[in-house]
Amino acid sequence: MKDTFLKACQGFKTDYTPVWFMRQAGRYMKEYQKIRQKYDFLTMCKTPEIAAEVTLQPIKILGVDAAILFSDILVPLEAVGLKIEFIEDKGPKVYPNIRDEENLNLLKNIEIDSLDYVFKTIKILTKELEVPLIGFAASPFTLATYVIEGGTTKDFVNTKRFMFAQSEGFHKLMDFLTDATLNYLQEQVKAGVHALQIFDTWAGILSPFDYEVFCKPYVKRIINKLKSVPVIYFSSNTAGHLNHLKDLDADVLSIDWRIDIRDASLALKDQSLQGNLDPLTLLGTEEELFKRTEKILIDGMNAKSHIFNLGHGVNINTSVDKLKKLVDFIHEFSHKLRRI
Ligand code: CP3
Repeated sequence: MKDTFLKACQGFKTDYTPVWFMRQAGRYMKEYQKIRQKYDFLTMCKTPEIAAEVTLQPIKILGVDAAILFSDILVPLEAVGLKIEFIEDKGPKVYPNIRDEENLNLLKNIEIDSLDYVFKTIKILTKELEVPLIGFAASPFTLATYVIEGGTTKDFVNTKRFMFAQSEGFHKLMDFLTDATLNYLQEQVKAGVHALQIFDTWAGILSPFDYEVFCKPYVKRIINKLKSVPVIYFSSNTAGHLNHLKDLDADVLSIDWRIDIRDASLALKDQSLQGNLDPLTLLGTEEELFKRTEKILIDGMNAKSHIFNLGHGVNINTSVDKLKKLVDFIHEFSHKLRRI
């Protein structure tokens, strides 16, 4: 198996900068669209042969250094008694919503067997893949925003009301989601994933103070218990939270484009980093794209180790050809950089 990605996860300098992309499987790819026309998104996630095939598409087409399991952060919510739907062009829907302590009894202990399709997909993939497989889950806080709001929102009013009006109840919800998430990630490790990524998409809606109170302890609890594979912690809009991110003891921190990798490396000494190209750079000219890519690769040399990624998922309007050219450029340029 190609191990450059895993070496970088473990903090070793590599011969070239490994690269993969968040949301590398998706509707921007015609091969994905072809399958998606026949099945809805959840059916694709729940059919191991299809989920495995879609996971493999970007590996074959783009030549990236790692695969990420095809699924969604909301999938485990069904195993704790909630309903999820993915509505075309409207995003996900979760219900019933838990917006106060009284409604916590709507949650039941995670029925891990009902997620067997995920573990079956992992088993198929580890047989077929020539690159490492990344498993994942949301952070308890990001998951909680979906449980509370019922979808993606602009200002997270219900989440913050629950948090500040009934903080004890909110901590109980976080406790519950932490245990469920840990169990889910541990089962993914047992099934064979080589690394894990925790998605904390909404961490940046919290002040650093509230991040420390309501989010960080739960992520830390999960990371501390997952010792057998490297853990990448992704968060966005958290350039003001760097001191707290450092405390998490994640093997790799994945950062977005709102901070230079160089500045992050200086603030987070001896930390491996992942990121951090603005995904919409891919909608512009190759000249602008490669200029920014070069800077990220050069800056990345300051980190303990660096994995190239976007600061968020691949946009649906992205050209597959351009993304493939980007992968080749990253491999070639970063290899040359190490010979200077
Ligand atoms: O990275 C990968 O390729 C692995 C698969 C993956 C998906 N979602 C597939 C998906 C992963 C890791 C996710 C994570 C996820 N899902 C996050 C965290 C990362 C982030 O983007 O911030 C969040 C917040 C979600 C919730 C979610 N799922 C939303 C808001 C949406 C709808 C909006 C959209 O972009 O379409 C989804 C649907 C979803 N998840 C799709 C895919 C491929 C689109 C499904 C389709 O219609 O084909």
